[in-house]
Amino acid sequence: MQMLVTGGAGFIGSNFVHAVVRDRPGVRVTVLDSLTYAGSRRSLSTINDSIDFVEGDIADADLVDSLVAHADAVVHFAAESHNDNSLADPSPFLQTNIIGTYTLLQAVREHDVRYHHVSTDEVYGDLELNDPTRFTEHTPYNPSSPYSATKAASDMLVRAWVRSFGVRATLSNCSNNYGPYQHIEKFIPRQITNILTGVRPKLYGVGKNVRDWIHVEDHNAAVWRILESGEIGRTYLIGADGELDNLSVVRMILELMDKDPEDFDHVADRAGHDLRYAIDSSALRNELGWQPRYNDFRSGLRATIDWYRENQTWWENIKGAVELRYHVQGA
Ligand code: NAD
Ligand code: TYD
Repeated sequence: MQMLVTGGAGFIGSNFVHAVVRDRPGVRVTVLDSLTYAGSRRSLSTINDSIDFVEGDIADADLVDSLVAHADAVVHFAAESHNDNSLADPSPFLQTNIIGTYTLLQAVREHDVRYHHVSTDEVYGDLELNDPTRFTEHTPYNPSSPYSATKAASDMLVRAWVRSFGVRATLSNCSNNYGPYQHIEKFIPRQITNILTGVRPKLYGVGKNVRDWIHVEDHNAAVWRILESGEIGRTYLIGADGELDNLSVVRMILELMDKDPEDFDHVADRAGHDLRYAIDSSALRNELGWQPRYNDFRSGLRATIDWYRENQTWWENIKGAVELRYHVQGA
């Protein structure tokens, strides 16, 4: 089987490619990635000989068409993925997340190739802290940021291409991932690498915002399950019942790194900051039999801290620039 993985040099995509090479000997992966600031060939360096890598843009219609023509399946991870960046400059988000997805859809339509679309729970907006309901496949879309609005737009394109053109697609909307190879602009690796470089962790506002954490391996196992057994046209929500507020996460990181749990700074809050995300993944569990394996957040976090400690060369050369960018934003 030939599989085209877009965004395979990013956080979740590279973990997915590692898992396919490790667990699926019958699958040959081609990665299509334009190596933006968020992508790194080094995330794939240990499996270079087992994959094909194409540096290119998902919005390049000729390139995409030529790659999709030889694929049996496309798994689409490539995106501009960081909310804070989308507030500073939305334009690459529209280009990659919307036009890029459109370009892929036209190619899978032309060549009748199975397509899986990776998306986020942020398309549903946010929940109150005390709301007993969680997001389901039936929650109305209500995105808050340029990032989530462009992901919502891309999801809608996929649904339209299924209905109007018979494209064989599935969608998944997952909650916040953590694990190895996550860019250090994101919350958890930013704080770990802050502590490793002698900088105090930075918490937006008072830290009451809740995220529903899932280990990246659990996300990718669910994507694989949907690719194999999901119903065409369906959306599956992926989540591992991992709700925690940001304050608790910062304190846990500090404690696991033998620091005083109060040794962090409150910084300016994000504009339009979503309060809470929470996923009801019972459809995925009941219908496709998926279960998360990383059920202990604390031990998953400890392993993630160890990974950043042991792989300092993967992130140390960009740390200064990432923090400078945050500093300019007052964060
Ligand atoms: P990431 O930012 O770490 O990686 C994105 C990758 O896409 C990078 O390798 C980048 O070089 C590549 N890319 C960007 N623009 C491109 C373009 N125009 N053409 C080709 N490649 C391009 O992102 P991530 O956190 O791994 O997220 C992957 C997907 O999962 C995204 O679609 C995101 O919306 C979704 N998602 C992420 C999370 C999360 O917690 N990180 C949760 C749910 C869903
Ligand atoms: P982030 O990793 O950017 O993911 P998302 O915005 O997709 O949820 O942020 C996770 C949470 O952490 C979010 O509530 C914002 C907060 N946050 C901080 O408190 N400090 C930080 O330095 C960053 C980057 C995020």
